[in-house]
Amino acid sequence: MPPPTHSVPPGPGARFLFVLGGGRPGGSTEALARRAADGLPDRAARRWLRLADHPLPAFEDARGTPAGTAGAGDRHERVLLEATLEATDLVIVSPLYWYTVSAATKLYLDHWSRWMDRADLAYRERMRGKTMWAVSSCASPDPADADPLAGMLRRTARHLDMEWGGLLLGRGPGRPDRSAVTGLPAGPRDRPPAARPGEPATCDSTGRPVEARAFFTAGVLAAAAQR
Ligand SMILES: Cc1cc2nc3c(=O)[nH]c(=O)nc-3n(C[C@H](O)[C@H](O)[C@H](O)COP(=O)(O)O)c2cc1C
Repeated sequence: MPPPTHSVPPGPGARFLFVLGGGRPGGSTEALARRAADGLPDRAARRWLRLADHPLPAFEDARGTPAGTAGAGDRHERVLLEATLEATDLVIVSPLYWYTVSAATKLYLDHWSRWMDRADLAYRERMRGKTMWAVSSCASPDPADADPLAGMLRRTARHLDMEWGGLLLGRGPGRPDRSAVTGLPAGPRDRPPAARPGEPATCDSTGRPVEARAFFTAGVLAAAAQR
C-alpha cells in the first residue's frame, strides 16, 4: 500500500468533515478519530456527521433514467450532500466490518454515484482536489486485514480525482465474551486486545506506527523530510 500522498498542510480554509459510519456511537473508531482531530491546527474547521442520524434510502441504480438524474433527495440526503460538497477534507470514520467499511458508509458512497449523475450538481468537478482520509479500528492484530477497506477508499478517491490522505488504524475491542450468557464457547477475538507494552496503538495501512494526533500532518512531515 503506498504511503499517504497528502502533502499540503491543512491551510487556513481547510474544512474537515468526519463521516461517522459505525454501529456504536462513541465506539473506539470514533474515539480514535476525535484524537486525530485534536492534532489538527486550530484554523482547520471540523464538522461531525453520524450516518445513523441521517439515514439514506436504499440505493437504487437508476443511472441514465430521469429518476436517476432528478430530485434533491430527502432532508437527510441533502444534509450529507451539502456537507460533503462543502468540505475540503473528507474523513471516513468506520470500524472494520468484514474487512471493509460498514454498510452505512458503503451506502453513503453508493449515493455518490447518484450525485455524480445529477447535472445540476457538477459533483465530480466539485469533489476533484479534495482529500479523502480514513480512520478505522478492528479486532485483528494484523493491519493487512484492513487492506480491502484502505484499497477501496483509495481507489474511490482516485476515481474522483481526489487526494488520498491515508488510513489511521487502531485496535478496538473484539466481540465481548458472552460465553457466560450464551453458553457458547469464547472465540479467539472474544476479548479486548491485550495491551502489550510497546505495541503500537495506532498505525497506517502498512502497519507503520502513527501517532493519532499526528495523523493529519504526518504525510506533510514525511514529505518535508524527503525534500
Ligand atoms: C459486523 C462486524 C464485523 C466485523 N468484522 C471485523 C473484521 O472483518 N475484522 C476485524 O478485525 N474486526 C472485525 N469486527 C470487529 C470490529 O472491527 C472492532 O470491534 C472495532 O473496533 C469496532 O469499532 P467500534 O468500537 O468503533 O464499534 C467486526 C465487528 C462487527 C460488529
